[in-house]
Amino acid sequence: MTPLVRPNIRAMSAYAPPWTGLDRTQYLRLDLNENTRALPEAIRPVLERFWASGAASRYPEYQAFLPRLAAHVGCAEENLIVTNGSDQGIEIVLRAYLNPGDGMVVAQPEFPIFSHVARVIGAAVQGVPFHADMTFPTEAFLSAIDDTTRLIVLINPNNPTGSVVPLQVIETVLTRHPGLPVILDEAYCEFTGVSCLDWLARHPNLILIRTFSKAFAMAGLRLGYVIARPELIRELYKVRGPFDVNACAVAVASAQLDHPELWKGYVREVMEEGKPFVEDALRQAGVKFYPAAANFMLIEPDDRDEVVAFMKRNGILVRPMVAPAITRTFRLTLGPLPEMRRFMEVFVQYLEKRMA
Ligand SMILES: Cc1ncc(COP(=O)(O)O)c(C=O)c1O
Repeated sequence: MTPLVRPNIRAMSAYAPPWTGLDRTQYLRLDLNENTRALPEAIRPVLERFWASGAASRYPEYQAFLPRLAAHVGCAEENLIVTNGSDQGIEIVLRAYLNPGDGMVVAQPEFPIFSHVARVIGAAVQGVPFHADMTFPTEAFLSAIDDTTRLIVLINPNNPTGSVVPLQVIETVLTRHPGLPVILDEAYCEFTGVSCLDWLARHPNLILIRTFSKAFAMAGLRLGYVIARPELIRELYKVRGPFDVNACAVAVASAQLDHPELWKGYVREVMEEGKPFVEDALRQAGVKFYPAAANFMLIEPDDRDEVVAFMKRNGILVRPMVAPAITRTFRLTLGPLPEMRRFMEVFVQYLEKRMA
C-alpha cells in the first residue's frame, strides 16, 4: 500500500506491452506496427561517429536538428518540439490542457496511450465507439463534444482499426470548436501520404503529433514531435524536460532525413506490394479483414486465439486485440513482400490444417 499515490493511479494497471518476457528477436514481429526491417546500412556510419565523438556522455542538443526537421516537415522551427517518442508528445499535450475531471473525446478502440495518460491526470475519457464496420462514427463523435470537453482527439488513420477520419470531419471539428484544442495524431502519415499540416495557418487549435518509430525504423530510439502554432509550442517546452530526447535518436533521425529514398522505398514496398498481396490472399482465402489505410490491419478469422497461437509456434508474432469491440480480431503489421509471403504461408498452412 502506498498511501501518497493518487487514488486514480492506484486504481489503474500499468501499460503492459503484449508478449512481455518473450525474446522478440527470435520472431518475425508483426505485432507492434514497427518497421519490419533493421535500420539501413547507410545509417551505420552515423552510429559509429556518434560513438567516436563521445556524444553519449554529453547532454543532448537539438539546435542543429530542428531546422532539418522543419525542412522535412515543411514548417518553421517555431512550430516544432521533439519528444521522447510520440507517446511523450501525447503526454505533454494532455498534461498542458487537462485538469482532473475535464473531458477528452476520442473514438474507440483507439491507441491506448491517450486514455491511459488521461486517467493518470484524472481526466474523463468521453469514448465514442467506432461503427461495427470500424468506420469513423461521425455523428456520434460530433454530438459527444459537450460542455465538459476540454480536448478532442482524432487519430488518422486510427490504430488499431486502420480507419480513416474523413478530412471533411476533421475540418468540421476544427471549425465548430475553435476554442478547443484538437489533437490530430498522424503517426502513420508517411504511409498514407495524407496530412492536415497545411491547415495550421487557418486552424490555430490544431495540434499534430508524429513519430520516427514507424516509417523511419526508429521505435527503439524513441523520437516523436509535435507540430502546432508557436504560442502552444512555447507552452509545451515548459512541460517537456530539457533533455528528454536522447542524442543518438537525433543523430539517426538526421541521417534518415538525409536519405529520404530509404524510408520512402520502404513505404512503397509495404503499401504497393506487401499490403495488396495480403489483401488479395485474404480475400482468396475467404478471411474477413477490415480495410485499413496504413501499415497494419485487423483480421477476423473464425478462431482468433488458435490462429495467434499457431503463428507464434511458427515464429510469427501478431497482436490479439483486447478492446471489447474487436476481441475476435488480431492486428497484423504489414511489411514488404517477403515478410508478407511468410505470414501468408503460415496462415494458409493453418487454414488447411483446420479444413483437413
Ligand atoms: C496512433 C499512434 N500514435 C502514437 C504512437 C506512439 O508511437 P511512438 O511513441 O513510438 O512514437 C503509436 C504507436 O503505435 C500509434 O499507433
